[in-house]
Amino acid sequence: MKGKIRGYLIKKHYLLVLLMRVLGIETSCDETGVAIYDTQQGILSEALYSQVDVHAEYGGVVPELASRDHIRKLVPLMREVFTKAGLAYGDVDGVAYTAGPGLIGALMVGAATGRALGMAWDIPTIGVHHMEGHLLAPMLEDEAPKPPFVALLVSGGHTQLVHVRSLGDYELLGESLDDAAGEAFDKVAKMMDLDYPGGPLVAKMALQGDATRFKFPRPMVDRPGLDMSFSGLKTAALYAIQDIKKKQDELTQQDKADIAVAFQQAVVDTLAIKCRRALQQTQLSTLVMAGGVSANLSLREKLAAETAKLRAKVYYPRPEYCTDNGAMIAYAGAQRLAAGQMDDLTLKVKPRWPLNELPAVKPQNQHE
Ligand code: KG4
Ligand code: ZN
Repeated sequence: MKGKIRGYLIKKHYLLVLLMRVLGIETSCDETGVAIYDTQQGILSEALYSQVDVHAEYGGVVPELASRDHIRKLVPLMREVFTKAGLAYGDVDGVAYTAGPGLIGALMVGAATGRALGMAWDIPTIGVHHMEGHLLAPMLEDEAPKPPFVALLVSGGHTQLVHVRSLGDYELLGESLDDAAGEAFDKVAKMMDLDYPGGPLVAKMALQGDATRFKFPRPMVDRPGLDMSFSGLKTAALYAIQDIKKKQDELTQQDKADIAVAFQQAVVDTLAIKCRRALQQTQLSTLVMAGGVSANLSLREKLAAETAKLRAKVYYPRPEYCTDNGAMIAYAGAQRLAAGQMDDLTLKVKPRWPLNELPAVKPQNQHE
């Protein structure tokens, strides 16, 4: 393992700390994200390119266009992060890339590039689980959560509650049985002719909405357990839209805002009920939220209020680390590389990859 080993005298105990600089590459969907993370100094530089404009006219991600755009953007973005960090090209100790879950072609671009760089620079590489990247993103903040905690992962592809015992030791407590929360946001946005990705636009419209006009269901909250469902809620929004369209040709801005606020509240309430239940069930007092939907202000406020009632605390990443980015992949990869994990000789990407299949991370670099 490359990287410098240095000794530190901390609280009378001598700790050996592996200092590593890791290049992170994220290409699982429609964002090309690159960052350099240093285990001592934190994120040194980062760059992000969003393909939103490429996919907007199709109303969703077109996988083939996503792969081609990652190919176009990845090398310029990598050069940019090395320049911004004041480092020579390749002056890192490891490369971390998203190996799954995600779109297979898009993943292949990041994986093949990451592996090629590892060989060219003669440094180890590691394939990172995209949702572990999201899950660990709050660790990049000054006030970082410490395991054990309950994590609510809410993105465009996943809605999961996870018991995080330690780094890499994850137990799935519950998940959406159909649409992910972000996916439901995007679909409701599409029904109202809002642009892709619709989540942030629905959230924005909701600010002008009358929350008393529509009452949508809170799916599966009466049933025990921590699984969720959002497709019925999406259907409720569709029926409300169809009802309006029976009386008038088009939805007014106010109609859209009223539907947006009712939908958002139903999602937020449902997630809050399940989070509360997960904290009670595990008897933990720390909740971590991550993934694109955790940027939603209404969800943040609600979970802050709910956790306060339970004398628990909620942590979330800054908004730019809620959605896809290279920093979270560099960070997650650095934790595993520093613990001695790395790729073998095969090049694998996993479009589907359960989080609990990940190996635990046992730090090898700290000896008291
Ligand atoms: O984590 P992410 O960037 O990509 C995936 O891994 O899926 O999440 C993207 C999802 C999209 O569905 C997007 O609409 C949603 O997160 N999203 C939001 C907000 N910002 C992003 N949903 C609701 N409110 C937001 N403010
Ligand atoms: Zn994501």
